[in-house]
Amino acid sequence: MTTIITNIKQLVNVREDNKLLRGNELAHLPIIDNAYLIVEDGLIKDYGEMNNIEQAIMNDEVINKKQETRNIINANGATILPTYCDSHTHIVFAATRENEFVDKINGLSYANIAAKGGGILNSAAKLATTSEDDLFDMAFARLNELIKLGTGAIEIKSGYGLSVDGEIKMLRVIQRLKQVSPIPVKATFLGAHAFPTIYKENKQGYIDLILNKMLPIIAKENLADYIDAFCEEGFFSIEQTETICKAGIDAGLKVKIHANQLHLSGGVQLGVKLNALSVDHLEAMDEDAINCLANSTTIGTLLPTAAFFLRINYQPARQLIDAGCAIALASDYNPGSSPSGNMNFVNSISCIQMKMLPEEVINASTINGAYAMEVEKELGSITRGKRANLIFTKPMSSLAFMPYSFGSNLIDKVMINGEFI
Ligand code: NIG
Ligand code: FE
Repeated sequence: MTTIITNIKQLVNVREDNKLLRGNELAHLPIIDNAYLIVEDGLIKDYGEMNNIEQAIMNDEVINKKQETRNIINANGATILPTYCDSHTHIVFAATRENEFVDKINGLSYANIAAKGGGILNSAAKLATTSEDDLFDMAFARLNELIKLGTGAIEIKSGYGLSVDGEIKMLRVIQRLKQVSPIPVKATFLGAHAFPTIYKENKQGYIDLILNKMLPIIAKENLADYIDAFCEEGFFSIEQTETICKAGIDAGLKVKIHANQLHLSGGVQLGVKLNALSVDHLEAMDEDAINCLANSTTIGTLLPTAAFFLRINYQPARQLIDAGCAIALASDYNPGSSPSGNMNFVNSISCIQMKMLPEEVINASTINGAYAMEVEKELGSITRGKRANLIFTKPMSSLAFMPYSFGSNLIDKVMINGEFI
């Protein structure tokens, strides 16, 4: 089946070559004005300027001789972008936490709430009494909502189980999502998200449980792609994070770390030392951490909606870019610190609060996001042979109108694997 999309106002992020973008490369967003795009069997086959379309159709006829299976869609001046690659989410959870949201309005901090058994432990208690089927249904509904908002690939973490049964239950839910999802799903084992209350006085006991009970099952059943830990004061220390990540590496998992969210924890330097795929959050950064990241192959994934929701400092995006870091943007969708997976809002807030340029946010949430979850060969840009996962916008005066119009839905429709959803 061939679909020819005509009259595209702007075809955005068109790339012949795949490359992780760092520093000032992020500001370069290749665009074809007044374009066409040809999709065949769910993949991007060709693209070009509208004034060359006759030739492109003739070539297609000569090569394929299957005009009867050709579908022409007039984009009528829509802009087309590759879908977002959201490389950091926690969309498997049993219950929302708007009560804590109100507690925070009344003056409690994220750390206060965690210390009195709220936060991650609250989510773990709810998850323990929720069935795998119910968790799956809720997460699948969230996934489908996100696809409509333009997400075309997603990473999902465990971390609300905090017991052998709970963590494995979450990872099985993510495995089921992988099987039915029309978009790629990557699974991250985040057993080291918080110490469960029963291990409060025996932290090594919980680490042993991760190492000796959870990881062997995960490796045997191939339940995860990545290992993650919340490296933060009151959660996992540098030494504990290193022990856990190294055990993950031995089990065949690449490393991602929740680093430098609330304090200068040294998590960035540890991630770089462990050759992490990404270090995520990065609200609390100093020159050392920035330079260390800039001189590495590790991606810095910024989660500005978590900083927004928790009312903490935003990530120093401009300094990170100026230093030459490779940065991605992700939603951190979770019930405690970012109860939204809307990547359009992530892009808006990145422009508004972190002074990233519209070109930079689109690159960071598409091609660099794809690298941060290793789907760059199939997604993240308009490239021949990649999946036709595409955002069709409503009519817009310019591309900058999209992040500028925060809170408005500028998406007209979303195509996944060549089909509108
Ligand atoms: O990425 N920081 C740690 N984990 C999540 C929050 C989890 C929660 O509060 O439920 C985050 O922000
Ligand atoms: Fe997170």
